[in-house]
Amino acid sequence: MNLKNVPIVTIDGPSGSGKGTVSRLMHKELGWHYLDSGALYRILAFSAESKGIRFTEEAPLAELAKALQIQFIEIPNSEHIGVYLDDREITTQIRTEEMGEKASKVAAFPQVREALVMRQRAFLQAPGLIADGRDMGTVIFPEADLKIFLEASLEERAERRYNQLKKSGVHVTLQSLFSELSQRDMRDRQRVVCPLKPAEDAIIVDTTGMPIEAVLSVVRRAFREKGFI
Ligand code: DC
Repeated sequence: MNLKNVPIVTIDGPSGSGKGTVSRLMHKELGWHYLDSGALYRILAFSAESKGIRFTEEAPLAELAKALQIQFIEIPNSEHIGVYLDDREITTQIRTEEMGEKASKVAAFPQVREALVMRQRAFLQAPGLIADGRDMGTVIFPEADLKIFLEASLEERAERRYNQLKKSGVHVTLQSLFSELSQRDMRDRQRVVCPLKPAEDAIIVDTTGMPIEAVLSVVRRAFREKGFI
């Protein structure tokens, strides 16, 4: 099939904006492919750390990015997706706040981002793709049919993350989460290459104060208007 006819929806936004949850639910609902681009940067940071490559070494990080052996495997009856590096399951190890912070550091290097472009584009397959990240609509899939950008206040995003972590038994303070998230945000928004920002043709949804069901209904409406549902 000509890939030009395969629909692409990009869902970008900062951490805690709900983009991951919305993307995974739409992926399950429609049976389209799903690219969790943040996971690629998290896996790279995880692998670099285990190989002793420092987060300041751009060229070795980019080489490693090209060589990573990654698999995403659906977990039946679960919203989550299993992540494997060299056949080893690392699903929970890459999900920590610490790994998010490290991912944000390696993601700031132009060579690293370049090394991951083709890998990300390879996720485009029939019957459609939902691509979740920071630069999906601006850089990786500028031709996307529908671009959604989810926002939310920093306070609310920190609170959402706090409640998520508490539910899964991880103890952190709201204050420390708030300052970590604000630092990561600043790095992702201010970096020179592919900064976090909405594409000019993106639909921007401020999800502050909105329960996930309300966000989903806005997103579903946008999908419907494009004829995807
Ligand atoms: O979405 P996430 O929290 O899993 O992403 C982790 C980090 O990876 C994020 O802080 C910045 C980086 N990232 C990026 O630079 N570009 C993307 N498309 C996705 C993530």
